[in-house]
Amino acid sequence: MDLYRICYRARIDRTWLNGSLETELDQALGRIRRTNRVAGVTGALFLGRTHVMQLLEGGTGPVLETLYHIMQDQRLEDMEAVCHEPVAERSFPASLMFFRDLRGIHFLGAAEDLCALLDRNERLDRAHLQAFLDVFAPSLSAGHATRQMMLV
Ligand SMILES: Cc1cc2nc3c(=O)[nH]c(=O)nc-3n(C[C@H](O)[C@H](O)[C@H](O)COP(=O)(O)O)c2cc1C
Repeated sequence: MDLYRICYRARIDRTWLNGSLETELDQALGRIRRTNRVAGVTGALFLGRTHVMQLLEGGTGPVLETLYHIMQDQRLEDMEAVCHEPVAERSFPASLMFFRDLRGIHFLGAAEDLCALLDRNERLDRAHLQAFLDVFAPSLSAGHATRQMMLV
């Protein structure tokens, strides 16, 4: 199957930000993961103080369709593309939607920087996405694991 990935950043609608974001997102994630399972979509969702960034990966059709639904979502505004391109493999093959709330994470220095990056008023691109993947994506793909074992 041809694999495609789309990453976007969006501002969280202020009324949602001030209100029930945590509980609602908790409930929404269950629904999102069920929908993504059916669509064969995996990825990751990062929550900052004012913005979210989401990576969607899967077949081109299902990924675009999922994005289309999200674009209609009133809880998000000012959506901007970070990158969209064919990929050889998924970064989150086992996650119907990996989730990290990056607000107030202090145990992981890098995550604090990434949280600031997410909210900063500066265009994000593929290199920024890669910085997130370097910290959060499971790195032990089969080939990677074999190479690691050979080093031991
Ligand atoms: C930050 C955020 C991320 C979302 N991610 C997904 C997703 O990965 N897959 C999905 O099916 N819906 C996702 N949704 C939900 C959709 O935006 C939408 O609410 C859902 O598809 C229901 O759409 P419908 O009411 O048109 O059926 C997300 C919503 C938000 C706010």
